[in-house]
Amino acid sequence: MILRQYIDMIRIWELDNNKRARKLSLSGGEPLLRKDFFKLLEEIQNNKWMFTSLVVMSNGSLITKDVARKLNKNEVSGVQISLEGTEEFNDRIRGKGAFKKAVNGIKILMDFGLTTGVSLTAHRKNYRDLPNLIDFLRDLGVKLIGIGRLVPIGMGESLEMLNPKELKDFYSLIMAKKKELEKEGVRMLAHCSDSLWLTEDKNYETHGCSAGYDSFSILPNGDVVPCRRFPVKVGNVLEKSLIDIWYTSDFLWKLRNKGNVSACKDCEFFKKCFGGARCVAYGYFNDVFASDPQCWRLFNSLPEKTTPPVGKDDTIVFNEAYTESFDPKTYFDKMSDV
Ligand SMILES: C[S@@+](CC[C@H](N)C(=O)[O-])C[C@H]1O[C@@H](n2cnc3c(N)ncnc32)[C@H](O)[C@@H]1O
Ligand code: SF4
Repeated sequence: MILRQYIDMIRIWELDNNKRARKLSLSGGEPLLRKDFFKLLEEIQNNKWMFTSLVVMSNGSLITKDVARKLNKNEVSGVQISLEGTEEFNDRIRGKGAFKKAVNGIKILMDFGLTTGVSLTAHRKNYRDLPNLIDFLRDLGVKLIGIGRLVPIGMGESLEMLNPKELKDFYSLIMAKKKELEKEGVRMLAHCSDSLWLTEDKNYETHGCSAGYDSFSILPNGDVVPCRRFPVKVGNVLEKSLIDIWYTSDFLWKLRNKGNVSACKDCEFFKKCFGGARCVAYGYFNDVFASDPQCWRLFNSLPEKTTPPVGKDDTIVFNEAYTESFDPKTYFDKMSDV
């Protein structure tokens, strides 16, 4: 029924001649834990022509040859497996043995010829280890690596976000790695086309955060949110049709007005970046139109040291060009709490 609603909405999108991507991702939690997972996949497969891609996002622990065979049979476009670092770092977060299980899953998927990507999420506990993980994945033969940054919501609130200086250093290192790995046929992509990559590579293609604009998530209870990292309920598909929710939610319309992130309007990147990640601004400030607190362009000076965590006495100086809706004191207070 929910699949049918999405298909109906795609038909309307086609009529309004838009360029929305029509992608479908099955995520979680762990999607492979669902007893009816392959039944759902078959149903999607029957309507496959409606979607430009179908990706399964998994922790890899339940991937067997039989599962890989069925994923292949249902022609998924790709499988995304998550890792948080090399073995020790990953298992600190995901539990003992999780790394070996995920790597075993990755090998099986690649043996079956399935497009296999690995997703990494940067935060203060793992970011120095992520280049090692990237090298490990290259040696394993992985050809697609997705890089994200921690969003301070849900369980993510118990981890520490990178401060702007750390994120800048991390992204510039990632850009160098990206160039090196591209020569070997490995693609490195920013999750959600993270527009802050623009500041390190002016040719980087992005149109800013797509939450509510050309993406949304449906949670297991039917709640619709602009993105899975953006927990603002805009409706429930068991009570109202997806089309109704998509076209009548005030919150979604506000979100689509990209001029609303007023604090960075003068930035040279604004027309492509539109203020960075809405989920991070929302999770951090509880204000969807605040600036992205991790953007280093918002500050005149950044700390020399990247550890210990930024505290009230640290040397970050707020850039007055961007003061409109951005309170650095809140920023420092919160940073020192994490
Ligand atoms: C798509 S989800 C769920 C799929 C799968 N069940 C799993 O365990 O990975 C997994 C990805 O989201 C990332 N993730 C989870 N919570 C996050 C948060 N609060 N902020 C940013 N990324 C997060 C994980 O690091 C991982 O790369
Ligand atoms: S200042 Fe704003 S528009 Fe400019 S790069 Fe940072 S988040 Fe994007």
